[in-house]
Amino acid sequence: MNWKRILRWGGLPGLPGPTLTPGLRARIRASFDDAARDEENFPSTIDSRIWHVRIVREHLGDLRGKRVLDVGCGKGRFARVFKEQEPEAEIWGLDISHAMLRFVPHGVHPCAGSMTELPFADASFDGAYATESLEHAVEIGKAVSEICRVVRPGGRIAIIDKNAAQWGRLRTPEWEKWFTRKELQRLLGRHCRLVESRFVSYWEDVEPDGLFLAWLATK
Ligand SMILES: C[S@@+](CC[C@H](N)C(=O)[O-])C[C@H]1O[C@@H](n2cnc3c(N)ncnc32)[C@H](O)[C@@H]1O
Repeated sequence: MNWKRILRWGGLPGLPGPTLTPGLRARIRASFDDAARDEENFPSTIDSRIWHVRIVREHLGDLRGKRVLDVGCGKGRFARVFKEQEPEAEIWGLDISHAMLRFVPHGVHPCAGSMTELPFADASFDGAYATESLEHAVEIGKAVSEICRVVRPGGRIAIIDKNAAQWGRLRTPEWEKWFTRKELQRLLGRHCRLVESRFVSYWEDVEPDGLFLAWLATK
């Protein structure tokens, strides 16, 4: 039995999964503080035509006057696009890394914290999204329930992350976790009335190669 793999995938059914201990949290934060210097692999901008951006934007719907949370926002590249597209939206970017948050664009509200303990009131956002960040949360169920908690009933949630079936394709830190379609659908389904998932590529006219999945939910 491969215990390392079992632990990585959240432990045995019925047993608690891995814990985001203060030590691990500090290591993850330090790793992303360091990564913030790497603009090539952790860019502060993204082309608004990229399918990942469009799929999140379309799912969130009309953002005029809406309050939206970018969970694990990094440098806020998605929030930057959405704020440019809809200046009347109130967009918050939450991240564990202070160094990443320094790049969050003017007009987007930066917030330091962990997605496993969001410092926001219940139902205080119209929508939330997490792009390639939930995979670092360690306590995945807790993070998903926190994201759902802060979104109002009827609000939209979008998650883009990597597919567990493709595990091994990229180098990953020891805490990272990828997801099966069903796994995140089940976690979101505990809090949301509608949940669907689909494969996505960077460009809509390029057939998805199975690495990225988008989970789209309505609370
Ligand atoms: C690969 S980056 C993605 C950033 C951004 N979502 C994007 O698409 O550009 C992952 C981000 O998740 C953040 N992160 C990791 N663990 C976190 C946690 N527990 N709470 C909040 N943010 C976290 C990291 O600091 C990093 O900025």
